[in-house]
Amino acid sequence: MKTIIEPFKIKVVEPIRMTTREERERILKQVGYNLFLVRSDDVLIDLLTDSGTAAMSAEQWAGVMRGDEAYACSRSFYRFRDTVQSIFGFKHVIPTHQGRAAERILFSILCKEGHVVPNNTHFDTTRANIEFRGAEAVDLPVPEALHPAALHPFKGNMDIHKLEELIDRVGPERIPLGMMTVTNNSGGGQPASMANLREVKKVLARYNIPFYLDACRFAENAYFIKLREAGYADKTVREIAKEMFSYADGCTMSAKKDGLANIGGFLCTHNDTLAEQERDLLILTEGFPTYGGLAGRDLEAIAIGLEEVLHEDYLEYRIASTKYLGEHIAREGVPIVQPPGGHAVYIDAKAMLPHIPPLHYPGQALVAELYVEGGIRSVEIGSVMFARKNPKTGKESPASNELVRLAIPRRVYTQSHIDFVVETILQVYERRDKIQGMRMTYEAPFLRHFTARFEKVKSSFA
Ligand SMILES: Cc1ncc(COP(=O)(O)O)c(C=O)c1O
Repeated sequence: MKTIIEPFKIKVVEPIRMTTREERERILKQVGYNLFLVRSDDVLIDLLTDSGTAAMSAEQWAGVMRGDEAYACSRSFYRFRDTVQSIFGFKHVIPTHQGRAAERILFSILCKEGHVVPNNTHFDTTRANIEFRGAEAVDLPVPEALHPAALHPFKGNMDIHKLEELIDRVGPERIPLGMMTVTNNSGGGQPASMANLREVKKVLARYNIPFYLDACRFAENAYFIKLREAGYADKTVREIAKEMFSYADGCTMSAKKDGLANIGGFLCTHNDTLAEQERDLLILTEGFPTYGGLAGRDLEAIAIGLEEVLHEDYLEYRIASTKYLGEHIAREGVPIVQPPGGHAVYIDAKAMLPHIPPLHYPGQALVAELYVEGGIRSVEIGSVMFARKNPKTGKESPASNELVRLAIPRRVYTQSHIDFVVETILQVYERRDKIQGMRMTYEAPFLRHFTARFEKVKSSFA
């Protein structure tokens, strides 16, 4: 069959509130053009993130009822731990309330001032948690990743040559760990190949540097390996995931993505001493090591979600629905990061709005227009999120790309919702020459994109 259907039936529905264009224009002004500050009731199709937004299955909801809420050593913890161990293969599994808590604990122990942490591309919370320790977060994507239109099956790969150069330049003693984000969220949701993971491990192991995976979308990455890498077509996604993790010394995980859960995360390692230090910190801020800031019911939902995410009919539908959105807008001329990623489609706002200079935030301008046009919430991944500021002069240098991410929540929207998104984007694309840039009127010292405020400016390179 050519048609790939949603491999589920809908048992519970959640109404969407329709809004008018005038209402949306008023709302946008009120929130300073920051979509993070718009109430979800005022959003028609919410593509802000795929994190924590999945629809849980009947089996997961049944698991919620079975959750054991004992403070210590609950049944639900052991189910969760056993499932994680069976897929990820690590000796120690430490639950946390979400991915960034795992990052904070890991970096608090491993990183200090003067340290450098390489990654294919650090996600914003990963970067912020490393920088908060006074260490430097360095991105080493392959050159293809910097060209949104370039077609490459594994744009999430790390540049091995640059990794070796970095180790030579700063010295291995200043690199407490190396990371790979799978799939590479900030780099367009692009997968890393098994060959690249193996190679990164080899280089790091030569210097005794531990290798960690930021594993949020491990199943989507594993499925891309099955589809695109020679020798993996006949392996199951579970086998591929196991091999990916076999190269790592540990991982951080946000279960809000490929855990198919609405909250949760975990930290894994093979290292007994490190695990002990991590558990000590966990008790301080997250909770006892068998719940780590989660309820027993959450641990059940994650354990079941981690099994469901490996179903290949689910992954086939998941990757097909992202591709559907990407291909339908790209064939009308909308510039996107090619090929479409696993969890999201990224519009190249720099290419679509060349009249808006990067520091007038073309991505943020596009995000605002998509909301006005069709009530769609998306997110800027460009200079608002990643511009570098000179600490002495306060002068900003733009991010390397100005992207708008349309992240697709798992099992939430149907094909007609996606058709509506396509139509909205194409209408905005038609009037792209008239879109104005933005000036930031407020910013917080960390992770400014969450709370920044903007106003429209007349901006043009002309
Ligand atoms: C690649 C990556 N790493 C880490 C995180 C942080 O996870 P959490 O939001 O659960 O703290 C995210 C969340 O979006 C992510 O995409």
